[in-house]
Amino acid sequence: MTTSTAATAHTPQTPLQLHRIDNSDDENIPRILALSNAIFDFDGSTKHGLISYWRDCLAHPSSFILYLAPHDQPTRPVAFLFVIWRKYDEPLKNGTAEGPHVWLAGVSAEWRRGGCLARMIHELHNIDNFTICTHPRRYPHMWNWLTRRGWIQEREFEDGKVMFTRPAQI
Ligand SMILES: CC(C)(COP(=O)(O)OP(=O)(O)OC[C@H]1O[C@@H](n2cnc3c(N)ncnc32)[C@H](O)[C@@H]1OP(=O)(O)O)[C@@H](O)C(=O)NCCC(=O)NCCS
Repeated sequence: MTTSTAATAHTPQTPLQLHRIDNSDDENIPRILALSNAIFDFDGSTKHGLISYWRDCLAHPSSFILYLAPHDQPTRPVAFLFVIWRKYDEPLKNGTAEGPHVWLAGVSAEWRRGGCLARMIHELHNIDNFTICTHPRRYPHMWNWLTRRGWIQEREFEDGKVMFTRPAQI
């Protein structure tokens, strides 16, 4: 996402509205994908940046996207998270073999440190046993966010990626 006239007009003080996408044919999916590709610098050469893969994920009944947009500009997302259904290679420490997983999460640069991620994660308060992965060197802010809030380190993968589960009290 580029800095536009709209971005100038809307500051982190602008109220953001939470939206949810459950359907793989939702017209706003390309906008969230564009935001994700801008945040992560994906170019469509991997599944993370491919609209066909996003739609396939959303076809699962437990998958959904949450996103935040200025209340008067619902088609200009500034933050999102994408929950998919994940089967784990090995069960989690609590025995869970499959469940909801935050596959991607990001906030556009000008809206960071304003509680967007906290608000979206809070929205998942009634979902048990969901997981999220991050990489301490690639995504230090996410790493800090999770560890400061007491998320439980579940396992580490060969590439250095770490999976976390949310502690029960959050
Ligand atoms: C990680 C990320 C999602 C956090 O979103 P956010 O809405 O800024 O997070 P919140 O406002 O809820 O929380 C802010 C926290 O993150 C830290 N933080 C976020 N952005 C930061 C920045 N640019 N510099 C320093 N700290 C930052 C704040 O210090 C604050 O920490 P604290 O509350 O634990 O003291 C966001 O920084 C981001 O999109 N980063 C790039 C993409 C990314 O890393 N995605 C996760 C991949 S696994």
